[in-house]
Amino acid sequence: MSLTQLKTENTRLENFLADDQLNKAQIVELIDLAITIKSNPKAYNQTLAGKTVAMIFEKPSLRTHVSFDMGIARLGGHALYLGQQNGKLGERERVSDYAKNLSCYADAIVARVFNNSSIEGLAEHASIPVINALCDIYHPCQALADFVTLQEYFVIGKGTDLSKVKLAYVGDANNVSNSLMFMAAILGVDFTLVCPQGHGPDTSLLKKAQASADMSGSKLVLTSSVDGLGQQDAIYTDTWVSMGDEDASKKAAILEKFAPYQVNHQMMKNSGASIVMHCQPAHLGEEITTELFDSEMSVVFQAAENRMWAQNAVLVTLLAN
Ligand code: NVA
Repeated sequence: MSLTQLKTENTRLENFLADDQLNKAQIVELIDLAITIKSNPKAYNQTLAGKTVAMIFEKPSLRTHVSFDMGIARLGGHALYLGQQNGKLGERERVSDYAKNLSCYADAIVARVFNNSSIEGLAEHASIPVINALCDIYHPCQALADFVTLQEYFVIGKGTDLSKVKLAYVGDANNVSNSLMFMAAILGVDFTLVCPQGHGPDTSLLKKAQASADMSGSKLVLTSSVDGLGQQDAIYTDTWVSMGDEDASKKAAILEKFAPYQVNHQMMKNSGASIVMHCQPAHLGEEITTELFDSEMSVVFQAAENRMWAQNAVLVTLLAN
């Protein structure tokens, strides 16, 4: 498939920075494109021919690094990994200079950073598209892959309308839950967040997501009570402490506070959920039991694979413009 053909078929996105900057049509197109590329990768194996992507990682990564690298290769492009030897963005040289220099050589920038301000700075100063590969506030590549997975399981697999699917996130409100919350609200998917007191989402993000939910007609629920989980179709969890926030002196208190929020077989039974999701890496025995993570209800590896197809949909969309 040529770039010219793709140009007319895809929504004109300039960057992929934050879920709350996307509209429903753009997200739906990305989900559909991811599934199309997954079903016929050969049709796209030259889409990025001659194109290069610079990938900045300030934090560790397995799935994001590998799925971008392999995904770009599958599109016929070239990926360059810039790891932590370059230090935090903005320390050795300004974020703006990083962005301007990389724009001289590459066709897109993928960045995993500590602070969202670095993503915004890159996007402001780069003349090429920027993709957020995780920051302190968002993880949009993960949420997109998760909605691809929900689409496969419930829409393609069971013939359910995506807007009828009920998704709950149980645990620490973080970059992953924020991105899921926004995508759910924009897509019209009911979303319940069950977080311990003091570990819910930032009020301004919640307000913004509520405004999207009001527009799409979906329900957004925040509770600190595990009994408030209600009936769900899918339950999602993530580590109780995110990368960069680790503090050994607080570990015991976190484990105690979060213990009732562990996602396990009993919780799946009580809620009636048929699948469990986790962005990984999982702290088995903490936020999720090993038995559930390894069970038939777990779609964690399907979602991990979908990271690549979802990101390829983003790359194809951005670089075809
Ligand atoms: N919330 C986790 C996601 C890891 C993919 C973190 O930021 O560490």
